Amino acid sequence: MISVDLTGRRALVTGASSGVGRHVSQVLARFGAHVTLAARRMAALEETASQISKHGGNSEIVHLDVTDDASVSAALPADARPYDIVVNNAGVAHGGAALDIRPDEWARVIDTDLSGVFRVAQTAAKRMVEAGRGGTIVNVASIAGLRVAGGVAAYATAKAGVIQLTRALALEWARHDIRVNSLCPGYIETDLNRDFFASDAGKAMIRRIPQRRLGRFEDLDGPLLLFASDASRFMTGTEIVVDGGHLVSSM
Ligand code: NAI
Repeated sequence: MISVDLTGRRALVTGASSGVGRHVSQVLARFGAHVTLAARRMAALEETASQISKHGGNSEIVHLDVTDDASVSAALPADARPYDIVVNNAGVAHGGAALDIRPDEWARVIDTDLSGVFRVAQTAAKRMVEAGRGGTIVNVASIAGLRVAGGVAAYATAKAGVIQLTRALALEWARHDIRVNSLCPGYIETDLNRDFFASDAGKAMIRRIPQRRLGRFEDLDGPLLLFASDASRFMTGTEIVVDGGHLVSSM
């Protein structure tokens, strides 16, 4: 009998100030985890925390910039109890033709979306190993890490890197009882892209998704809770695609 109960677990969610990260934090808290909400915008984190507490959940906020080693070390102090669940969600997107990407734009996407995941995962895993405890790390990648589209070279490269990094870390850390898996969402409707998907170009894109709709935050809940809980105890180094069939769309 499988039931998800995260009571007593400590969870860290990066990029918890908006979008997917805010939703993921709320779900983990609803299932009993004590969630540390980490990002750069403290006021937005406060908002996530107050939504969690309104529903009876427990959380705290911490400033974190995943591109800054000192910030990552400060957010995951060596003397604190290690996290049992780490969701590497923080990310930035950049659109534009590969011929036009400036070096600083390329570096920002790779540093945030790929190196940021490594920084947080490595620090969290060190704390787990030092404490002799295992844990589960969930890296939010994207279907862009498994297939390409025009104008997303840096983003797609970073997300493909996250998927391969996930496998490499899973291999090395299984002996420490640390599991590492990727979640690969397709297009999810958010405040930022709602207007685009209401346009003709956006509607045409939706028609190419076999299920003929965008993802909703709640569509991620099942795979998230699977990876975050002991229900996936024999899964590591793998990825789950949540995309309404977009990756298997007709050629
Ligand atoms: P979002 O922009 O609402 O959320 C990204 C979060 O990351 C924000 O809270 C932002 O403040 C934080 N962040 C960015 N740089 C940071 C840094 N240096 N340090 C700490 N936090 C930082 O976007 P969304 O859509 O919620 O994306 C969340 C994750 O889901 C990203 O990794 C994204 O690539 C991934 N994703 C989103 C999809 C979508 O359609 N919305 C589809 C597939 C993947």
